[in-house]
Amino acid sequence: MSEAIEAHRNDFPIKGFHHVEFWVGNAYQTAHYYRAIHGYEIVGYRGPETGVRDTASYALEQGDVRFIMTGAMSPDHPIADHLRRHGPGVRDVAIEVPDAARAHELALERGARSAYESVVVEGERGKWKTAGILAYGDTVHSLVENPDEMWPPPDFRLRKDSIARSIGLERIDHVVANVELGAMDEWVEFYERVFGFVLLRHFDDEAISTEYSALMSKVVWDGSGVIRLPINEPATGKRKSQIEEYLDFYHGSGVQHIAIATSDLVATVAEARERGMGLMSVPETYYDDVPQRVPDLEVDIATIRRLNILVDQDDGGHLLQIFTRMMQDRPTFFFEFIERRGALGFGEGNFKALFEAIERDQAERGNL
Ligand code: FE2
Repeated sequence: MSEAIEAHRNDFPIKGFHHVEFWVGNAYQTAHYYRAIHGYEIVGYRGPETGVRDTASYALEQGDVRFIMTGAMSPDHPIADHLRRHGPGVRDVAIEVPDAARAHELALERGARSAYESVVVEGERGKWKTAGILAYGDTVHSLVENPDEMWPPPDFRLRKDSIARSIGLERIDHVVANVELGAMDEWVEFYERVFGFVLLRHFDDEAISTEYSALMSKVVWDGSGVIRLPINEPATGKRKSQIEEYLDFYHGSGVQHIAIATSDLVATVAEARERGMGLMSVPETYYDDVPQRVPDLEVDIATIRRLNILVDQDDGGHLLQIFTRMMQDRPTFFFEFIERRGALGFGEGNFKALFEAIERDQAERGNL
């Protein structure tokens, strides 16, 4: 690691992912879908009843995963435009910092563009400070200074809908961006320059390709593992790649998936399936070479086959993972659930099996 990057990291301390805000068409229904199916508690609300006239927001929580679902109350709000262009999706990947104003100032000095200036958010329960910078596409990073570890946000009214039953989701493991062809290296450089992040992994289209689809991916991280950001760009395949399909339907760069860690993926997936969550399936043949590919596997292979869980192994150990179906009508955003048993990777060994599964769905939509 260069001295310059080391210096950057030292004067741009970050604590990790703080929350993710989605801009959606119907925050009320979205919040209730995530409560009933994904097991998030609805813990706060902000809207006309709390004196905010133009938006309605619900704050959700499960383990250390915190989401805000926000919708617009009128057609001239920026959310309405965002929704028309992108469909429902991630607007803000908020990062926790010890000093929001200082972090914002430093980011701008290093060439980031401001999304909004440092502001104090206040309510009856206290306050926090936040500032925002622009990221890929229409995505932003809020820089949240929240020393009292307040959740929901200070300007939200506490709310408890009927108790949610957790499915064991614990924290955000990584947040993946899809960017336009040629933009991957620019965004890698952005995270290195602004945040002092470093390159963790790099996959080229040789490693990640099927007959039809290919992508390139680089992962930047903060060096300690609290933030991991894979960035994908399309590579040329025989037909339209899944990254291109995303870019076409999202109309630009944006967040493709969020991976959430659980310490018992078998239990998480069994419960999710029970609740009717749509999960991606892999071909039966996927399991044929699992004993050779993942010799350390401690889970009964019949169980992971029944639940359609994917497994992979790298130098550090192995991991279990599964991907949901698309979370909205457009083929854009989805979730991953991941259980790390020592592995530091992202399931590279599964990419091919996964892509073949994605492509079957893509073909059904007539987009391959
Ligand atoms: Fe992932």
